Amino acid sequence: MKNRRKKFVIAIDGPASSGKSTAAKLLAKKLKCIYIDSGSMYRAAALYLKENNIDLENETALNEILNKINIEILYNSEKEENVILLNGKEVSMKIRNSEITNYSSIIAKKRIIRERMVWLQRKIAENQSIIMDGRDIGTVVFPDADFKFFLTASINERAKRRFLEMKDKSASSRIDDISLKKIKEDLKWRDNTDSTREISPLKMANNAIQIDTTNLTIEEQVQEIIDIIKNEITL
Ligand code: C5P
Repeated sequence: MKNRRKKFVIAIDGPASSGKSTAAKLLAKKLKCIYIDSGSMYRAAALYLKENNIDLENETALNEILNKINIEILYNSEKEENVILLNGKEVSMKIRNSEITNYSSIIAKKRIIRERMVWLQRKIAENQSIIMDGRDIGTVVFPDADFKFFLTASINERAKRRFLEMKDKSASSRIDDISLKKIKEDLKWRDNTDSTREISPLKMANNAIQIDTTNLTIEEQVQEIIDIIKNEITL
């Protein structure tokens, strides 16, 4: 019998709204392990820096402030989703509006911020199996991950998904009234900002498996991933 792995790391990278987080969440449920949406950590940091008017160019202030930012990700088993805490306060919804979404891409360019996030991300994975999604998980955070996937989808499909996701969320809480056209513009801007930045830009790791999710349902995406990993990981 094949020697099955006990502890594993699965990295899922790709541009915004390519299906990473939804796939990671469903996959984690099937594999009975935790999933971390690393984007929510950059978002929480962006919220803190914005609310406290921190000048991103002042490295000394930034360094000091970073030590005051405590980000925790807890699993809410009732809702079956992660809850993001910033210095003990839940910010799960607050970090999803378009202002913080775009600001997270700006703060994510800073080396000092990325170093802190990567340290936190590696710490979370120290003693447990994990599925983590983001932009640099397979290239920088876990270059030795057991599996690396890179999810893509057409810009129209990604904009549609994000629009539906925002509409869905606005039913239960207030979120920006945003048009499909504006969503597409924001996605393009973020794609460009994330893939052209100097430090840890969004790019596919050499040994990652690319999956185009444009015409796949979420179940089909997850099945494709499972078909690839099933001989290595106990399901
Ligand atoms: O994944 P999500 O869209 O929530 O990420 C928000 C922003 O955080 C991204 O646009 C990107 O700039 C940044 N990010 C990053 N590295 C990661 C995850 C997210 O730079 N691993």
